[in-house]
Amino acid sequence: MTIQEFDSIVGSARDAFAKAGTPAELENAKAQFVGKSGRITELMKGLAALSVEEKKTRGAAINQAKQAIEAALAERRQALADAELEAQLKAEALDVSLPGRVREPGGLHPVSLTMERIELIFASMGFDVADGPEVESDWHSFTSLNNPPNHPARSMQDTFYVDLNGDDGIPYNLRPHTSPMQVRYAHQHIKRYAEAVKRGEPMPEIRVIAPGRTYRVDSDATHSPMFHQCEGLWLGENVSFKDLKVVFTDFCRTFFESDDLALRFRPSFFPFTEPSAEIDIQFQSGPLAGRWLEVAGSGQVHPTVVRNMGLDPEKHIGFAFGMGPDRLTMLRYGVNDLRLFFDGDIRFLRQFR
Ligand code: PHE
Repeated sequence: MTIQEFDSIVGSARDAFAKAGTPAELENAKAQFVGKSGRITELMKGLAALSVEEKKTRGAAINQAKQAIEAALAERRQALADAELEAQLKAEALDVSLPGRVREPGGLHPVSLTMERIELIFASMGFDVADGPEVESDWHSFTSLNNPPNHPARSMQDTFYVDLNGDDGIPYNLRPHTSPMQVRYAHQHIKRYAEAVKRGEPMPEIRVIAPGRTYRVDSDATHSPMFHQCEGLWLGENVSFKDLKVVFTDFCRTFFESDDLALRFRPSFFPFTEPSAEIDIQFQSGPLAGRWLEVAGSGQVHPTVVRNMGLDPEKHIGFAFGMGPDRLTMLRYGVNDLRLFFDGDIRFLRQFR
């Protein structure tokens, strides 16, 4: 075999390697030359029959060809690996000039901020904070509040009903106000009151607020089918309308951070209070100055309601109120459409962060 013949084997190995487009194809091509029965391997096997002298020269030539093929193989392997990396980098291209993805700090919803504020202010006046069910029985939502079935006052609220009847056969409702919490809270604590009385202690006062979600069939710029209320209840032996006025005035002035604020009690009607009043506030300065704004319903708790609490209306006298935290939030921040609170638009919400 001549040098040229060795060269042509090396040459055809190079060609075969160059044609291999993938690592697998390259390994196949390699087998044809330096594999178990590859051309070089076969030549090596042929050496056995030769003389020592011939083995030397021919062996050296074969080795040279083998080394050249292996070098070509290594080179092609590297080239394929480089190409693969290149393709991968292209596919996963990173545009380093793009701005990074910032994790923005979250914040509380404006109505949640108001709820927290309300709870803090009333807690500082010795009020407990209670929570209750949003799917409520007819008895708690209406009847216990001196508003029996077929009473005309029931039509004051367009209530959502649930496809499930209570023990009384009347469907549950999505509570249209937080007032059911008045009787619920009293019942939850009635044992504690009875025990105190048994020990000869004076009957503990009920002083509680109950904030939460409420529901009515109502929807426009100032009404949402889901909205918020906060109930207040203060019952004791000697709690009067005067106390309501003091507590609510204090609350409003603290909430709006303004002593420049007037309150007005306007006669109204609720089945569960007698007498009843709407509470209006008036700012003396600022963009809303001079207008009377309704913020709550209120009144002296009706004896029937006190009786339904399991208490004696001769001994437990006091007031209740129900205010609208959504409205308070609108007034505090100057928001003019209630629906903005429930749309979830981040551009609106991030202003309160
Ligand atoms: N529950 C009444 C309403 O939703 C408000 C209210 C609460 C009035 C407590 C008086 C006493 O309109």
